[in-house]
Amino acid sequence: MKLLHIDSSVLGPHSVSRQLSAAIVERLRKTTPDLDIVYRDLSSTPLAHLSGSHLAAAQGAAPEAALQQDLIAGQTVLEEFLAADIVVLGAPMYNFTIPSQLKSWIDRIVVAGKTFKYGAQGAEGLAGNKRVIIAVSRGGYYGAGSPAAAGEYVETYLRWVFGFIGVKNPEFISADGIQVGPEHREKALAGALQAATNLRAA
Ligand SMILES: Cc1cc2nc3c(=O)[nH]c(=O)nc-3n(C[C@H](O)[C@H](O)[C@H](O)COP(=O)(O)O)c2cc1C
Repeated sequence: MKLLHIDSSVLGPHSVSRQLSAAIVERLRKTTPDLDIVYRDLSSTPLAHLSGSHLAAAQGAAPEAALQQDLIAGQTVLEEFLAADIVVLGAPMYNFTIPSQLKSWIDRIVVAGKTFKYGAQGAEGLAGNKRVIIAVSRGGYYGAGSPAAAGEYVETYLRWVFGFIGVKNPEFISADGIQVGPEHREKALAGALQAATNLRAA
């Protein structure tokens, strides 16, 4: 069974989502020791933002030399995603949504003919055979009914985009209120790490 582990926080060892995604992978590794794990750090090895040149190359135009490496990287991340049975994703909230590094990755995996297609019934996801577990960390609180609820574009966005490619029930483990104060941070982290240890086996 293949597990793809992805982090996107720019905060390195201080990152909450990295700590949480690692705990999730550790939990799954314990239940299934022979997991085949691929790790990708989108902060230390970022993909370029999608450009017109990328789209032209996808249509068969000869790519500029400077784009070659990034096209190979884009193909590699798509293949990693397609091959994975389980995807564990660290997704911090930066300016109310995901880091741009993670968006660049999503722009490489949401590909017509690979992870979705348009048919008679409209869009159809082609990646529905995966389990996706997302470790979210947010500085504040965005729960339903809270004053900031309308500003939540991490979980809402990821639910939508994974749903679009066929993953209808992504699992979320969240640590919220990380920037509210030390007690809030401690409590959020403890709760999220506990939730990781309670995850269904791989
Ligand atoms: C550049 C930046 C932007 C942030 N923007 C928000 C925000 O819009 N809302 C929020 O609640 N917290 C925000 N935060 C706080 C983070 O969501 C919080 O620190 C979280 O733990 C980040 O995850 P990480 O530690 O894995 O990087 C921001 C943090 C950074 C570094």
